[in-house]
Amino acid sequence: MRRNRGVTLLLFMLTVAAFGLVGCTVEQSTLDPKGPVAEQQVSLIYLSFWIMMGVTIVVAVILLYVLFRYRARKGQEYIPEQVEGNKWLEITWVVIPAILLTILLVPTISVTYNLADASDDGDGVEIVVTGKQYWWEFYYPELGIVTANELHIPTGKKIHLHLEASDVIHSFWVPKLAGKTDTIPGRTNYMWLQADEPGIYSGQCAEYCGSSHALMAFQVVAHEPEEFDSWVAQMTEPPSEPQSQLAQEGQEIFTQSCASCHAVEASEDTVGMQGPNLANYGNRNKMAAAIMENNKENLVDWIMNPQDIKPGNLMPDLDIDEQQAEALAEYLLNLK
Ligand code: CUA
Repeated sequence: MRRNRGVTLLLFMLTVAAFGLVGCTVEQSTLDPKGPVAEQQVSLIYLSFWIMMGVTIVVAVILLYVLFRYRARKGQEYIPEQVEGNKWLEITWVVIPAILLTILLVPTISVTYNLADASDDGDGVEIVVTGKQYWWEFYYPELGIVTANELHIPTGKKIHLHLEASDVIHSFWVPKLAGKTDTIPGRTNYMWLQADEPGIYSGQCAEYCGSSHALMAFQVVAHEPEEFDSWVAQMTEPPSEPQSQLAQEGQEIFTQSCASCHAVEASEDTVGMQGPNLANYGNRNKMAAAIMENNKENLVDWIMNPQDIKPGNLMPDLDIDEQQAEALAEYLLNLK
């Protein structure tokens, strides 16, 4: 029995240490903050973690001491004095937790107010995020553009997100930039985030939303402000014309079979379409809501078998052959 407790404690500590190590290396880690929102949140995590670790260690030490000090000894019939109701002990175990919780309460309230302040300082970027089964639409009302699954933002600026959903509840989460906030049909939630350095930050739907919930990822691409401006400029240009015979064929198939759900221009007239916006698709790093690398092989595979790759998504079986899928892929990958 006593040995079991020791093993449990050891396993617990190893698990904690493993989480700490993993936090430094994985793509999606709250413990590796890259912006002021995530930094404030992780500071609360560490504060509460160390307070609780302190309590755990003190309790474990007292427990171990009592287990050894008062353990049954051979040939000894000894029952310690039975104590019941001790005023000072009871005051102690009310006062100590009260102090610890107060230490946690003050920064918690302060961070909560900081993060609730979604007011625009005039310099930020406003983005309407809509969670859909199983992808993300990002609409920039001030810029009049829309995109999907790749959220482009400038570094060093407050990004104001208006979070909505068009079908079921999803949750928007970019672990390195900010904690999760639900997107709820019929309601708008607000949050802000900021990236200090340029880079790609992985995000994930964090609320079970159906059979392909785990396949509903996205990326946040943070650019230096000037580069962000050129991204915006590029998005406002009309889609590039196909450069090859194959791409030309692809465009025809697209117009016939895909264009009622997908747009290839980023204009705000296309907000709310059934399928993800594909403007400048060839520049994307990932595809199918950031679950696969964006390359020809994967794209052909996806066009041929969308339901095998992402069960329950709304993309129908297009009933086209591999050659047609290749033409489509060629067309889409050349949209730059
Ligand atoms: Cu969307 Cu889970």
